[in-house]
Amino acid sequence: MQPRPDFRFRRLRSSAGMRQLLRESHLSSDDFILPLFVEEGIHSAVAIDSMPGVRRHTEDGLPEAVRRAWQAGIRAVILFGVSHHKDEIGSDSWSERGLMARIIASAKAAVPEMVVISDNCFCEYTNHGHCGVVVDGDVDNDATLENLARQSVVAARAGADMIAPSGMMDGMVSAIRAALDGAGFEQIPIMSYSTKFASAFYGPFRDAVDSSFKGTRDSYQLDVANGREALAESLRDEQEGADILMVKPGIAFLDILLSVRQNCSRPLAVYQVSGEYAMIKAAAAAGVIDERAIVLESLGAFKRAGADLIITYFAEQAAAWLGRP
Ligand code: PBG
Ligand code: ZN
Repeated sequence: MQPRPDFRFRRLRSSAGMRQLLRESHLSSDDFILPLFVEEGIHSAVAIDSMPGVRRHTEDGLPEAVRRAWQAGIRAVILFGVSHHKDEIGSDSWSERGLMARIIASAKAAVPEMVVISDNCFCEYTNHGHCGVVVDGDVDNDATLENLARQSVVAARAGADMIAPSGMMDGMVSAIRAALDGAGFEQIPIMSYSTKFASAFYGPFRDAVDSSFKGTRDSYQLDVANGREALAESLRDEQEGADILMVKPGIAFLDILLSVRQNCSRPLAVYQVSGEYAMIKAAAAAGVIDERAIVLESLGAFKRAGADLIITYFAEQAAAWLGRP
């Protein structure tokens, strides 16, 4: 006598229709956010070698990039400016005529319906490349908060639909919330990079953008070994009033994504970063993986783990693969 299984999971896997009916999580381009890099003072877009298909746009080219994303079904973009007016403190980022304000206004004018999110940090605006004001060799948290508050109000005034502080300063959400409310922007949400690790997965992006940066961000970003502290960071930002929380990077941190999902009630974003993108692209170019299948499986894993929103350089391509209603 063969032993017979007492339950058959395979009953619900017996046809494509049955499998579709029983699928527990779903990927949709509604949830994608496309990062766009804009460098001032360049005359044509610059390709990023380690990230095939990703470029630093010119300021003049940004409207077209936003329109193209909209055509592809993308409804949200997050903007990164690469400054040529860097100084010790990143002051161009809170100038009303500075790069951050200009790219927000330009993206918003190109497609007014697009949700335009501003990445609020200083590393692309400081000559040392750190995410804030450096005092005695380290980023001064509270001095940076004051600048972040000003920068956020300027971003909101320029037309940003959402403010996304990415510098991992303590108290950044409270400081920005108070500044926005004080300036009449009570309705502008904050999407905090609440749990952001000091990760080697940012390598390709830094190679491409941060050429001036030497050193580490270990004194402000999270140690990759720390899961409890990672959750505490997101819980803290939720208390401070963050409207949306985030885990960054993505694929190596699914345990963190799940724990934030299970312990916080705000919507949750995940950032599939440059190194994740570069690894998939390189393996696909080498012919050793099926790019489409790997991308959809990776993005699907974020949904399964609990992400509501996915920031990904694959946004346009994945939207095309998923098809539009
Ligand atoms: C810094 C910043 C980082 C990225 C964009 N802005 C991380 C870092 O350098 O610490 C990386 C994005 C990516 O790797 O895709 N605020
Ligand atoms: Zn930064």
